[in-house]
Amino acid sequence: MSFQNPKPLMGFSVLLLFSLLFFLSHPTWVSGNEELRALMDMKAALDPESRYLSSWTSNGNPCDGSFVGLACNENGQVANISLQGKGLSGKLSSAIDGLKHLTGLYLHYNALYGEIPKEIANLPELTDLYLNVNHFTGEIPTEIGKMENLQVLQLCYNQLKGSIPTQLGGLKKLSVLALQSNQLTGAIPASLGNLEMLTRLDLSSNRLFGSIPSKLADASSLQVLDVHNNTLSGNVPPALMRLEDGFLYEYNLGLCGAGFSSLKTCSATDHVDPYGAGIKGHSTRDIPETANVQMPCNGTRCQKSSRSKQTTTTVTVGLIVIAIAVSAVGILTSVHYRRRKQKLGNSYDVSDSRLSTDQAKAVIYRKNGSPLISLEYSNGWDPLADGRNFNGDSQDMFQSFRFNLEEVETATQYFSDSNLLGKSNFSATYKGVLRDGSVVAVKSISKSSCKSDEAEFLKGLNILTSLRNENLVRLRGFCCSRGRGECFLVYDFVPNGNLSRYLDVKQGDAQVLEWSTRVSIVKGIARGVAYLHAHKANKPALVHQNISAEKVLIDQRFNPLLVGSGLCKILTNDIVFSGLKASAAKGYLAPEYTTTGRFTEKSDVYAFGVLLLQILSGKQKITSTMRLLAESSRFLEVMDPNLHAKFFEFEAAKLLKMALVCSHESPFERPSMEAIVQELNNCSSCL
Ligand SMILES: *[C@@H]1O[C@H](CO)[C@@H](O)[C@H](O)[C@H]1NC(C)=O
Ligand SMILES: *[C@@H]1O[C@H](CO)[C@@H](O)[C@H](O)[C@H]1NC(C)=O
Ligand SMILES: *[C@@H]1O[C@H](CO)[C@@H](O)[C@H](O)[C@H]1NC(C)=O
Repeated sequence: MSFQNPKPLMGFSVLLLFSLLFFLSHPTWVSGNEELRALMDMKAALDPESRYLSSWTSNGNPCDGSFVGLACNENGQVANISLQGKGLSGKLSSAIDGLKHLTGLYLHYNALYGEIPKEIANLPELTDLYLNVNHFTGEIPTEIGKMENLQVLQLCYNQLKGSIPTQLGGLKKLSVLALQSNQLTGAIPASLGNLEMLTRLDLSSNRLFGSIPSKLADASSLQVLDVHNNTLSGNVPPALMRLEDGFLYEYNLGLCGAGFSSLKTCSATDHVDPYGAGIKGHSTRDIPETANVQMPCNGTRCQKSSRSKQTTTTVTVGLIVIAIAVSAVGILTSVHYRRRKQKLGNSYDVSDSRLSTDQAKAVIYRKNGSPLISLEYSNGWDPLADGRNFNGDSQDMFQSFRFNLEEVETATQYFSDSNLLGKSNFSATYKGVLRDGSVVAVKSISKSSCKSDEAEFLKGLNILTSLRNENLVRLRGFCCSRGRGECFLVYDFVPNGNLSRYLDVKQGDAQVLEWSTRVSIVKGIARGVAYLHAHKANKPALVHQNISAEKVLIDQRFNPLLVGSGLCKILTNDIVFSGLKASAAKGYLAPEYTTTGRFTEKSDVYAFGVLLLQILSGKQKITSTMRLLAESSRFLEVMDPNLHAKFFEFEAAKLLKMALVCSHESPFERPSMEAIVQELNNCSSCL
């Protein structure tokens, strides 16, 4: 061939050849692998050093389960990205808009920085956007207001500036908007009052000013409105009183209003607040819009858009140059080009077909439950993954208790230490807030502490979900994660601590329980234990095995709630046994256990008797002297001196007697829990 001879020409043509190849093959590539390309761009930005996303490879298949944190839909399109708490320290690329079918983006609890790309608004199917607890800066893109399917927008705990876009008022399906702990300024857009699905709006710890628009109260589903720690002023719309405890407004020096505790009543000047509702020609509605209009053509945004115009120009010029060069050398290179293109075409075809078969597999694989669970579970322990465990109604019931790991992680802020409520040798308990705003306690139990026999474990879990009584802490659900090697039990949070907090308290302390409270606590505990012991249609008779003051939680109305019921059904024998040693050390273990080695209803009754003595005496430690006193005519000396003799003597005598017979040496002397409940109910003045 003629162009073989001069070396410089050869070099030049090779260069052109490659430019040409890239240029011409690009469209093919884009249509076939647009998602993969977007993912690779995102990876480069999110994880520049490729430390966490090395499984995202340009020749891999995003839908075969090999890409960490990705889940695809049944059409083989990327549907969810869950990379929360993965240590990512890069940026979020605008290439994200290549993932047209994304429904969930979970990038919270990372160290991502830079701006939130406005291109994110080009994802029409996105419902969940979690970018909270990162280092994002810049403003909230107004374009987000176009995302009509968005349900949850979590941008809290970043360094976002500027005002809250009024456009967010167009998010018809939004149920949670969390913007707290940023540096947002400006007024609260009245347009947020248009959001009929909004249940939770958190704007706390920002620099918002002006008054709370009265239109906000129009948001009919709103349950929680948190605006505390801003610089808001003016009259608080009285309609917000319906939120009761769900309205949090502390640390706003300028707020006033009638009917809200801790707010001063408004004076005449308060009404003339510049951002208030009352000024002619300046309705509250206008303010945020004005605030937004000021922004666009000043500062970073304006520069950015002119920069992107420049880029476009450069690219266009570049393409024209290439095109001319191509047509010049086109004929010379056509043979080579054709050969190369065929080769490339083939390799793409191969990978495409492989993609589709693997997708088919992935779809089958992900049929059960949320893909987030499947992702977590894909290579390890998951007793619940394949749905074969129960059938019929029981299965449905069981499924309704299932949480996914993402919910649990979000609730507990990725198990942050600040949410740790307590730790034992086999578990840790965290406080958390669910998506619906309810407060929960999440108990995490390591896999090694759970029964290793899968069927037994599941049976235990099933029993746990069947327990329902007003004196048992309610189990909301559970979740098992292979990835973390843990199982999580999600309980209602009970605010007033456990009973031991009310024992051994100093005279005059707030924790000193009065007599009627003690009596009602005793009754509640008895009812809870009796419920466990009873055999019901949908629940077997159960022995608690671990009753103690720590296991009795106290709610806001001072009702007692037993926790830990049924746990022995899912824990290994070792763990159950170590619990026994602890309860023996505290005096709750029935004496016959040492000889029989068996737990019965009567051993629970024993522990209840000890608990009763503790409640009456106000003391943690029950001594034999106290027992002797209780049996004697000097029984009143056992009673808690903090009561200052403010109790009914005959009731005290009766309860002390009950405590003694319950904690009788011989199990045969102890009454049944049912009988105890009867007895307590008969005691008329106790009610
Ligand atoms: C994406 O995640 C959500 C939330 O966990 C889940 O409900 C949905 O089924 C997921 N979609 C797919 C296709 O993976
Ligand atoms: C108020 O917000 C600041 C930051 O804006 C934060 O440091 C502080 O802890 C917040 N205070 C309360 C009581 O929330
Ligand atoms: C633009 O911003 C600068 C600095 O933030 C400010 O001094 C200037 O007044 C602004 N111009 C307009 C037109 O808002």
